[in-house]
Amino acid sequence: MRIVRRVTELRLALHDGRRGLVPTMGAFHEGHLSLMRAARAQCEQVVVSLFVNPAQFGARDDMGRYPRDEERDASLAEEAGVDVLFVPSPQEMYPEGFDTWVDVDATGGEARARPGHFRGVATVCLKLFNLVRPDVAFFGQKDAQQVAVLRRMVRDLNVGVHIRVLPTVRDAAGLALSSRNAYLTEAERQRALGLPRALEAGRTAHDPVAAARAALNGLEAEYVELLDVDGATLLTAAARVGSTRLIDNVIVEGELA
Ligand code: PAJ
Repeated sequence: MRIVRRVTELRLALHDGRRGLVPTMGAFHEGHLSLMRAARAQCEQVVVSLFVNPAQFGARDDMGRYPRDEERDASLAEEAGVDVLFVPSPQEMYPEGFDTWVDVDATGGEARARPGHFRGVATVCLKLFNLVRPDVAFFGQKDAQQVAVLRRMVRDLNVGVHIRVLPTVRDAAGLALSSRNAYLTEAERQRALGLPRALEAGRTAHDPVAAARAALNGLEAEYVELLDVDGATLLTAAARVGSTRLIDNVIVEGELA
């Protein structure tokens, strides 16, 4: 596996053949690794980007405490069969004078809860798509609204990339894996389980939102709502446990391909 930090080096590391890209912010867990393995299985060249993107964090967000361990991430990526790990600096991605943004008109809970967040996500992903020029880019269902925004962007701007979505990887108790789970104390982790349990209760109910709300078990949800992603209906929710913000979703109807 090659680790490249500069755009110029990245260009030289690319070769012909079906190319897969897995964009990440690092602190790898089985969710990230499942995307890398899928890319490995389906593509000739697998590029993973590791970049904690300042543009998608709000002023009150946790960018400063976002977990970082490049050495561990590099060895996990290598084990997963990744060919190129792209680890740019903020200056490499946003050089002096950078002033162009992709603003997808997104509705839904995350867009409301985190103004500017998806603008940062869409901008960095379009840059990564242009730099790596992948045939396929792999994303997790865990961040379903992110997928909806990126699919909208790809269609609206005629970006020639196929967006593949893979199922959410959970721990044995049902909590969706997230780099942010590292912040939870054991007591908070127990409370956090209220989120997947509520979604599971809502999944098969006649009124999924009401049923999930009723099953929250004291956990305070920022929102619980239905989201349409390419014809599939998802029940999505966000909740704060202590100082940690968690998001999760389940498919109520249809399929996410
Ligand atoms: P990050 O949170 O590092 O996630 C990278 C990818 O892993 C995303 O596609 C996310 O949906 C997926 N992922 C996270 N947890 C998962 C889980 N439990 N199961 C399956 N997939 C999971 O999402 C981002 O980074 C950033 O917004 C990014 C797209 C890299 C742009 O900066």
